[in-house]
Amino acid sequence: MPSHLLSLADLSYPDIINLLDTASDMKEKRARGKTSTALKNKTLAMLFEKSSTRTRISFEVAMTELGGHAIYLNYKDIQLGRGESVADTARVMSRYVNAIMARVYKHETLIELSKNATVPVINGLSDIEHPCQLLADLLTIREYKGKFKGLNFSWIGDGNNVCNSTILACALTGMKITVACPEGYEPRNDIVEKAKELGGTVNIVRDPMKAAKNADILSTDVWVSMGDEDEYDQRLHDFKPYQINSKLLEQAKHDVMVLHCLPAHRGEEIAADIVDGPHSAVFDQAENRLHAQKALLMKLL
Ligand code: CP
Ligand code: NVA
Repeated sequence: MPSHLLSLADLSYPDIINLLDTASDMKEKRARGKTSTALKNKTLAMLFEKSSTRTRISFEVAMTELGGHAIYLNYKDIQLGRGESVADTARVMSRYVNAIMARVYKHETLIELSKNATVPVINGLSDIEHPCQLLADLLTIREYKGKFKGLNFSWIGDGNNVCNSTILACALTGMKITVACPEGYEPRNDIVEKAKELGGTVNIVRDPMKAAKNADILSTDVWVSMGDEDEYDQRLHDFKPYQINSKLLEQAKHDVMVLHCLPAHRGEEIAADIVDGPHSAVFDQAENRLHAQKALLMKLL
């Protein structure tokens, strides 16, 4: 296991399987009402520059259920928001807490935190990646499909932070990924190159129908991510043909599963009858954030 989790590529395939096995075990124990004190007296600082429902709650509940404690810190409420440096913030926090989870605008902020912290730093979403989301997604895929190798993963829409981590997740676990996005919204080149180095197959196409063909998994995310609000009108226009809807689903395998990290914008990137329909795994996916992050916290701490 690495000492920090900034990118999904910080993990090896055995690390991932190990985390998923622990997560499944914790999930099963929780369902039977079994409690744990594995992180007794441990504290997680949760630093947020952006909004969050799932990440904030699942990390806090994970710490509580493991006998530890989490502190929510909006960057505006601490001296960071008044100009104290990221480096000093990391050094000071390390004297108090056992790990730092941060959701930031710029990925470099996470790198700066990790360089100066003496405790593990976890990426709770940056402009480049969302590795914790992908741990939950992989857990959900394994529950539904029982395997990774050879599955066709189709990403429809923005080549954003979640897409980047999805590409790395596919490369690490042997799933083939096709991304359908409009010109100018491709996933990052360095991520695609990294995925290929890891032995992954990444196809980037324009036609969402083509991308959805024979898909085992269809996934998407919002058209306007946090930080992209200035481009709202342009993005709504450009992404219009990239909606997961019943027509698109017809292209996929009959047992296709639909993922979305949430929050969903029904009628934009996904039709209401799909996100709320029988193929959707989105609420299991959201729940699995809790189990996957418990496993992550236990390994890193
Ligand atoms: N999927 C996800 O990270 O959701 P939040 O923004 O609510 O944390
Ligand atoms: N791509 C989205 C994900 C939110 C969980 C964003 O960055 O806003």
